[in-house]
Amino acid sequence: MAKSKKKSREDLYGSKIIQEDIVQLAKHLKDQLKHFEGKTFLVTGAGGFLGNYIVLLFRYLNKYVLKKKLSAVLLDNFITGYEQHILSDENLTFQKHNVIEPFKTDKKIDYLIHAAGIASPVYYTKFPVETMDVGTIGTRHMLDLAREKKVKSFLFTSSSEVYGDPDSKFVPTPETYFGNVSITGPRACYDESKRFGETMCVTYWNVYRVPVKMVRPFNVYGPGIRPDDYRVLPNFIEHALRKEPLPIHGDGRNTRSFCYINDAIEMIFRVLFSKAHGESFNIGNPEKEISVEELAQYVVKAMPYPVKIVHIDPPHAVYSKSDPKRRCPDISKVQKAMGFKPRYGLKDGLARTVAWFQES
Ligand SMILES: NC(=O)c1ccc[n+]([C@@H]2O[C@H](COP(=O)([O-])OP(=O)(O)OC[C@H]3O[C@@H](n4cnc5c(N)ncnc54)[C@H](O)[C@@H]3O)[C@@H](O)[C@H]2O)c1
Repeated sequence: MAKSKKKSREDLYGSKIIQEDIVQLAKHLKDQLKHFEGKTFLVTGAGGFLGNYIVLLFRYLNKYVLKKKLSAVLLDNFITGYEQHILSDENLTFQKHNVIEPFKTDKKIDYLIHAAGIASPVYYTKFPVETMDVGTIGTRHMLDLAREKKVKSFLFTSSSEVYGDPDSKFVPTPETYFGNVSITGPRACYDESKRFGETMCVTYWNVYRVPVKMVRPFNVYGPGIRPDDYRVLPNFIEHALRKEPLPIHGDGRNTRSFCYINDAIEMIFRVLFSKAHGESFNIGNPEKEISVEELAQYVVKAMPYPVKIVHIDPPHAVYSKSDPKRRCPDISKVQKAMGFKPRYGLKDGLARTVAWFQES
């Protein structure tokens, strides 16, 4: 087994690279600290890639920054998250819970982040019904909870996949683009559940005045991403660390843009704390749309030893029949509304990610 696959949650806490990221994140969110002071958060999908950074940020803020500590209820059923329990403390309470069941709590909730989901094509192909359910039934339960608790804000992590395979006239893709999504294709269980999840959110704003926001992340990557997640970047790095050729599905001409995790988390909190009720925001990095082939070359260059690239037949219909050709965000809406510009370029972010994979 590759060394990096042995990473456990305890290793994540011990990671120098992640620690640096969390310190930077807290610094960059300094102007938002009043929203964290003494507040109660509920986070679903807390055991996942984004959830982990959110939990580590909470822990850091409580330990070093906030005068009045925040508290948080953290939910995950670990269908794809790390099996280890998230360490609870007196302020952060982890509960194993499947959000397709209603969740009851006596606690007040100020902010609710619904980040549970099954995002990797390999996993949503394995669990298509669970994928639909978490995006639809799970979102409904969380909206009902948000309504009952009269939250200050509710954030749904939708996806850039709501755009499907966009017409090239709409790349970079703005929020106003309605999408080009197959209703029944191999990706529909994910794409359509995120689309309907957003419909529910905006309806709860229109009908019940639940102050919802939706974010549509575009390919977030960084330390803490599950090494066996099969998304393109961790897949390349895993192969490179094993000194095996990097497998490109097909011709590698599909393009993507990549957003470093710190930028994504900063945007998530800026949107959560904003007054943009009922609005959807692309979050990502428009810096450079690069092809999968170029990405492989980036990874090759980031390694201290030579690594080869191979082209293989896509292992599954989710890639061969329906892989979007282009994916690049227009983030002018979030930039304008939140005054935010991504801070991490691909070269820096990739170096940090490779360094994390190499930490033991
Ligand atoms: N990372 C990205 O690039 C990206 C891009 C677009 C959208 N998103 C969305 O952002 C959210 C977080 O993404 P991530 O990369 O952290 O994904 P992830 O797979 O690492 O984490 C999601 C977590 O949700 C949990 N989960 C799934 N179903 C659940 C259920 N029914 N009840 C409770 N927990 C459940 C999983 O166990 C996992 O720990 C997801 O909703 C995803 O769809 C992520």
